[in-house]
Amino acid sequence: MQEFVRLNEVGPRDGLQNEVGVIRLEHKLALIELLAGSGLSEIEVGSFVSPKWVPQMADTDQLLPKLPVVQGLRYSVLVPNMRGWVAFEAARQPDVPYQVAVFVSASETFSQSNLNCTIAQSIENLTPVVRAAEAAGVPLRAYISCVTDCPFEGPVDPAAVAQVARTLRAIAPMPLSLGDTIGQGTPETVAAMISKVAQEVPVTQLAGHFHDTGGQALANIAVALELGLREFDTAVGGLGGCPYAPGAPGNVATEAVLAMLATHGYQTGVDRDVIAEAVELAKGMR
Ligand code: HMG
Ligand code: MG
Repeated sequence: MQEFVRLNEVGPRDGLQNEVGVIRLEHKLALIELLAGSGLSEIEVGSFVSPKWVPQMADTDQLLPKLPVVQGLRYSVLVPNMRGWVAFEAARQPDVPYQVAVFVSASETFSQSNLNCTIAQSIENLTPVVRAAEAAGVPLRAYISCVTDCPFEGPVDPAAVAQVARTLRAIAPMPLSLGDTIGQGTPETVAAMISKVAQEVPVTQLAGHFHDTGGQALANIAVALELGLREFDTAVGGLGGCPYAPGAPGNVATEAVLAMLATHGYQTGVDRDVIAEAVELAKGMR
């Protein structure tokens, strides 16, 4: 039997948050509607963050009520603090499955740049979000950014990533997505980092989130697969980056990961023809 690999499409969030111009709501919606029919089981559609910090995500509250309901598909949103949780609660549709994603950095300088606070403070801010999501029965995931390299501090010690992973898992047994925020990881640094984190968290609870700045994302996914990871975040058309990580254009492209996984005999349940259509649509949005 073929092994299954789960893809989390992050293009509408991690992709579009980095666009210089603000993408109109109906264009975002058209992209998500197309992706929703591709067989993907998870699409990250937006963030409940400060509109002053990330104006491209300011319409996430208007987007949520318009999303199509598709069997087997859930929508993910980023929520850094209780202010974001309250906005999510107000916007969500009653019978639609969601996932709330909280986010932390493994590097102090990136934490300041992305969240305007220390790592410890960001964990304090996200903890009540975790409790609220648990109480509301909303599944959670946590991102760790800068898992191999920081745009300000350079190489990141795998022990620092493992420490953040341990802290997050002590708050709740949520899956963790390991973010190579600026796409500078290599198969060697990624393997060292995953091996260290895997001492704290089962690999079945880890996802890989690779930006492709250094052209190593597919090689990094290959090494993560060897180490047992079976979930990856990808963005259609290779959209994206992080507005507070200088030099971070492009998540690994969904279509490239699908091609690679097919070559290696993995199943994903995702229709590559529909993704090819979405690539064309995404290109037209830039
Ligand atoms: P702050 O300025 O430190 O917060 O921002 P504050 O508490 O002092 O509030 C300042 C203003 O923001 C106030 O409004 C708050 O109400 C408002 P004002 O009184 O000035 O009008 N505010 C909010 N508004 C909407 N939603 C909220 C919210 N919270 C406060 N949730 C904050 C702190 C976290 C809000 C800010 O730093 C922020 O929004 N940062 C953006 C973070 C972000 O979205 N980054 C990109 C996503 S992370 C990423 O891309 C990495 C990832 O892909 C993985 C990887 O690649 O590594 C996930
Ligand atoms: Mg990212």
